[in-house]
Amino acid sequence: VASNRENERRAGFAVPLRPSGMLLADGLLHPRWLLGNVGYTLLRSGMPRFENLTAQRGQPIIARPSAPDHRAGRDALAWPDMQWLRDTWPGRLVLKGLLHPGDVARAHALGADGVILSNHGGRQLDHAIAPMAVLPAAVRAAKSMDVMVDSGFRRGTDVLKALALGAKLVFVGRPMMYGAAVGGQAGVARALAILRREIDIAMALCGCSTVSQIDAGLLIDNAAPADRALTPQ
Ligand SMILES: Cc1cc2nc3c(=O)[nH]c(=O)nc-3n(C[C@H](O)[C@H](O)[C@H](O)COP(=O)(O)O)c2cc1C
Repeated sequence: VASNRENERRAGFAVPLRPSGMLLADGLLHPRWLLGNVGYTLLRSGMPRFENLTAQRGQPIIARPSAPDHRAGRDALAWPDMQWLRDTWPGRLVLKGLLHPGDVARAHALGADGVILSNHGGRQLDHAIAPMAVLPAAVRAAKSMDVMVDSGFRRGTDVLKALALGAKLVFVGRPMMYGAAVGGQAGVARALAILRREIDIAMALCGCSTVSQIDAGLLIDNAAPADRALTPQ
């Protein structure tokens, strides 16, 4: 189900975009973007359309508000559907958006190959826990299954901490999107280069020359008494 995004409502953002004076002014004040992006797309393929976001395929990106889109009953998806997917799909199956170690255990029990712990970058539900906080318990619950993670990873050291806590992979969302917004493909390459350099530096300063050397030995348990805070190597 769609989340309650008050900041987007305050900024006048909706999907599909609502025609408004502000949208028009914004476009006119950014002529390079208007010609390079909107103009180019209009000329090449006509009005941009959402192909797979809403129940109504091919909905134009700008439209008058219509009846709320309940996304084709997506809120009815539940564990039996995951079991059906598992039984139907013989390839790799990864479930994204889990935050509870109990759900990770459930994903393992139904035969998933991996999970991505995610709170959708903190944009879906206020008070949802940070995936990083549940990572150790989730890794224990996952047994043989791979645990991946996203939401809020911004620095190389964030990535290192997640790998040390047992994540197999860390995904990064908005930093790459910001790179694309500012500098297109070159902006994404630059964002990746910054993150890569930070990871390289952090690994070197922690004495790790390969990713496989990143483990819990790098961590201090803040909750443990000082003399037992360091994990034995
Ligand atoms: C514009 C935007 C659209 C997104 N759409 C989806 C989506 O359709 N499905 C999904 O599982 N996650 C979606 N996400 C969430 C990302 O997959 C990811 O979990 C999140 O961005 C990671 O957090 P980060 O941006 O802090 O790195 C979206 C994120 C953004 C910023």
